[in-house]
Amino acid sequence: KQLNIPKEEGLDHSLALIQEGYQYITSRRTKFKSDLFETRLLGQKVVCIGGQEGAELFYDNEKFERKGAVPKRIQKSLFGENAIHTLDGEAHEHRKLLFMSLMTEERLELLAELTREEWRLAAAEWAKMEQVVLFDEVQQILCRVACRWAGVPIDAIEVKPLARDFIAMVDAFGAVGPRHQKGRKARKKMEDYFKGLIIEIRHRRIEPIEGTALHKIAWHRDHKEKHLDEHTAAVELLNVLRPIVAITYLVTFGALALFEHNVWKEKLQSGDEESVQMFAQEVRRFYPFAPFLGTKVKNGFEWKGHTFEKGQLVLLDVYGTNHDNRLWEEPYVFNPERFRNWNGGMFDLIPQGGGDEYTGHRCPGEMATIQVMKTSFSFLTNEMIYNVPVGQDLSYSLSRMPTYPESGFIIQGVSIKS
Ligand code: HEM
Repeated sequence: KQLNIPKEEGLDHSLALIQEGYQYITSRRTKFKSDLFETRLLGQKVVCIGGQEGAELFYDNEKFERKGAVPKRIQKSLFGENAIHTLDGEAHEHRKLLFMSLMTEERLELLAELTREEWRLAAAEWAKMEQVVLFDEVQQILCRVACRWAGVPIDAIEVKPLARDFIAMVDAFGAVGPRHQKGRKARKKMEDYFKGLIIEIRHRRIEPIEGTALHKIAWHRDHKEKHLDEHTAAVELLNVLRPIVAITYLVTFGALALFEHNVWKEKLQSGDEESVQMFAQEVRRFYPFAPFLGTKVKNGFEWKGHTFEKGQLVLLDVYGTNHDNRLWEEPYVFNPERFRNWNGGMFDLIPQGGGDEYTGHRCPGEMATIQVMKTSFSFLTNEMIYNVPVGQDLSYSLSRMPTYPESGFIIQGVSIKS
């Protein structure tokens, strides 16, 4: 017998989604007292799901596919067209191995080293400045790190505008109007630039270092033994560079958390490895970044009495699942202690997606993200002295996607610890 799931009445709620942002799905799940409900977005019927079981369902490859699930507006700003995000089955698994092959222990250690080095160089400059907006500066640090790690020559590149373009691509995903257009323009410019670089490599006019993302992507063969076309290669290179720069959002939130929870600043100053790991995990869980994810029903099926129809769009509540009180005690309290002796599963802490990263769409960059965050937090607490001036607006809006502290987190009086 078909059960009815709660349904949000009305023709279309896209505007409410944009206006309510991170809280759109969560607030309706709470109101309807249900982990799934139906609504209408972008002119179509959509089922929203959340919670651990919802996440597990969302990552079932038998039931869902990504083909046609990512709206063009997201492809043209955030991910790029024909990117790994839109692939399924064998083509996806093969492409995923390319990304996973970048995440060896050795490569991750190099990423940490480069991150430390760039923080050191930047902080030495900040010591000469009256004040620094951390959000603006960290994006430049991570842009250098991303390029160097990926094997992209940066001598000829001006880093500041490049970093801005990466952030513009991320900043566009939850926006309409000029903010969205800015991201699309940035993507177009970047794709042209990196397409040119791929062509140079294939003509052997540039030889990237073996083992780097640039080398691997330029010479990658797909599951049909063919090189990626130049555009797709550029898109996937951007899918390594852009998200590394995007870690800026999490680093800025981490700086805010260090300021607001002095006891954690002290714990990190003790240099204890477990503390910095727990702190990074809680920053990823607590602060908003990816609000929700989308997929499409491959073949109709029944779940909890509801019929999912073939072709229907399904959204997973990422932010809400990271704040689900069945999974997290006092979810709206920032408390890294919850990660002490944590034996979490694949579908509870999902700021970068859930499930298995090899066979599903879970982010391949999770280890890299944690590595960069930990290195940055250790630097902030152990190698730098700074003040956080009062009078700045440290609040962040949950209706803006993506979001970060209003002031960008201003620091003053920077010096390097001797
Ligand atoms: C996928 C978040 C960093 C590369 C994803 C997904 C999320 C995410 C939510 C989608 C999962 C899904 O579709 O089911 C983040 C966040 C990051 C981050 C919050 C930190 C700011 C990285 C890094 C890299 C990376 C550092 C690479 C160096 C990718 C790629 C995918 C992906 C290639 C597509 C995977 C697929 O479709 O199979 N990420 N990510 N991300 N991420 Fe990340």
